[in-house]
Amino acid sequence: MNHFEYGPEGLACEGAPLAKIAAEVGTPVYVYSRATLERHFTVFRDALIAAGVVDPLVAYAVKANSNVAVLKVLGDLGAGADTVSEGEVRRALAAGIPGERIVFSGVGKARREIEFALKAGVAEINVESEPELNLIAAVAAELGVRAKVAFRVNPDVAAGGHAKIATGKSENKFGVSFAEAARLYANASNNANLQPVGVACHIGSQITDLAPMRAAFTKMRGLVEQLLGEGLSVERLDLGGGLGVPYFNHPEPPSPAEFAAMVGEVTKGLPVRLAFEPGRVIAANAGVLVAEVIHVHERPEGRKFLVIDAAMNDLVRPAMYDAFHDIRPVVKRPGETVYDVVGPVCETGDTFTRDRPLPTFGAGDLLAFMSAGAYGAAMASEYNTRPLVPEVLVDGDRYAVIRKRPTYDEILARDLMPHWI
Ligand code: LLP
Repeated sequence: MNHFEYGPEGLACEGAPLAKIAAEVGTPVYVYSRATLERHFTVFRDALIAAGVVDPLVAYAVKANSNVAVLKVLGDLGAGADTVSEGEVRRALAAGIPGERIVFSGVGKARREIEFALKAGVAEINVESEPELNLIAAVAAELGVRAKVAFRVNPDVAAGGHAKIATGKSENKFGVSFAEAARLYANASNNANLQPVGVACHIGSQITDLAPMRAAFTKMRGLVEQLLGEGLSVERLDLGGGLGVPYFNHPEPPSPAEFAAMVGEVTKGLPVRLAFEPGRVIAANAGVLVAEVIHVHERPEGRKFLVIDAAMNDLVRPAMYDAFHDIRPVVKRPGETVYDVVGPVCETGDTFTRDRPLPTFGAGDLLAFMSAGAYGAAMASEYNTRPLVPEVLVDGDRYAVIRKRPTYDEILARDLMPHWI
């Protein structure tokens, strides 16, 4: 459930009409519903608790939507943060999420990032390879601390989703094998600067079938039991993120309750604390991208292009993954016309959809890309020197700009004429 419904003034986010926000903030603009963010987080966590998972650490995947105001909403509910860069750790800390609820993941953490994370006292660094483990040990020794590490295992399970976002096969760059994990875990236990706290996995994103997750989690359970059997201390099992969301035309994904029931079953009786790294399932349907129609361009052969003021730099998912986003008129329009919806960027790939029947639009009409709260603004760029799209958070009938659109002066000021050294 989300909080985007039609009211007397057209499509509204909670009690705030999108047309009003667009008029006051300008387009394109991302609009997020605070109530939806809260609801999604609460539903996910409570489903786990109801399935018998004791005190889960739900570390929201910051990469999905990293606005500090969004992180604050979730952090205030007790969310932790799954981070993949120093920047994301800093965002989580800025939102008031304490180090002990921050997980630091990622394939290539740089020395200075590891140093920063250790100083911030993160709950665990998810180690992806042996060289990385050695680097963490070296940095921890320099700082005179014992680094809490968890081993990210690649469970070699194929999980749905797009090839560009599947991570759980051994040919992908992520994580170590089960055999390596067991060996590294035992070695790390004997290192004065390392404290192995658990194991982790994450097999992909937009997963709409529980079977591969069940397979991966069952293998992870086996690993935890093996390590415990060897007398090693294992406190945590991090099961990653990946639960899919409905994007309108996709197969209906499992609900958080079905996911949680499966987790409860697979991990029953395992004496470890479970952690999760959901991103999309929390944020996707809590946000929309609002854009304005610039022109309707009809070719002589009949193809109709809806040229809008949002582009692939603002929402790259359709261009990058052929992703489907439902498109709704902000104010309902009669009629039906088949359009290609395109942005102003000078690439054919700057196409949001082709041959889609939509209400008949005219120049100046507003439309909303639904389910754009995850991997939308977070993946935006200033390609074609289009100012980074602003973000708005709605709470009831009030709203706040939580990232402003930069001015052209601010954009130009970042470039420097060479000052040769
Ligand atoms: N944990 C790890 C280690 C991850 O790599 C990811 C996502 C997550 C958690 C969160 O996964 P989620 O619950 O959001 O599925 N940009 C792509 C998605 C990339 C996902 C990358 N990793 C998209 O727009 O579809």
